[in-house]
Amino acid sequence: MARLVISCSLDPESRSRTMARRAAAALVQAEETVDWLDLQETPLPLCDGSSVYSDAHVAAVADRIQRGQGILVAAPVYNFDINAAGKNLLELTGDAWENQVVGFLLAAGGQSSYMSVMSFANSLMLDYRCLILPKFVYATGQSFDEQELTDPLVDARITELTQTLVRVADAVRS
Ligand SMILES: Cc1cc2nc3c(=O)[nH]c(=O)nc-3n(C[C@H](O)[C@H](O)[C@H](O)COP(=O)(O)O)c2cc1C
Repeated sequence: MARLVISCSLDPESRSRTMARRAAAALVQAEETVDWLDLQETPLPLCDGSSVYSDAHVAAVADRIQRGQGILVAAPVYNFDINAAGKNLLELTGDAWENQVVGFLLAAGGQSSYMSVMSFANSLMLDYRCLILPKFVYATGQSFDEQELTDPLVDARITELTQTLVRVADAVRS
């Protein structure tokens, strides 16, 4: 039973990807099995609301989402939302998210976009009955040296998020 970690940024120098990797490492250290889904390595078609649902790659990714025993979504903040690649993933795989426990790790340019994940989270909650972990990780460039995470508080918060994900996902399942 794997914990699914999804990295949504398409930027090769992504900071949210660094946090996703850190979360995956914390889960492995806690002896959890991790399924790593990186949208940089998994090109998906743009959702057309029609033929795309029979695409084999979309079906494979939807299967991984459905099987996740808890999901962490790491994403960039773009235009007060998560990036289009992350939103596209949800458009492609909607029902696969049904009843999942979901946590977020967000990289942003400034502090004031803190609430920008809510549109994505609302869809997960209200369309797919997901349980959203309310304490998420939000970091700006000040917590990094280039792509390297240098902020111990963010590092600790990532570990805390992974622990919460495991605890809540297992509790919901039982
Ligand atoms: C198209 C675009 C839109 C952005 N919009 C926002 C925004 O609304 N709020 C914000 O705080 N940062 C914004 N940023 C800054 C990114 O969130 C920041 O660079 C972040 O590190 C990107 O995540 P990544 O490094 O994982 O790719 C934007 C950046 C881009 C390229």
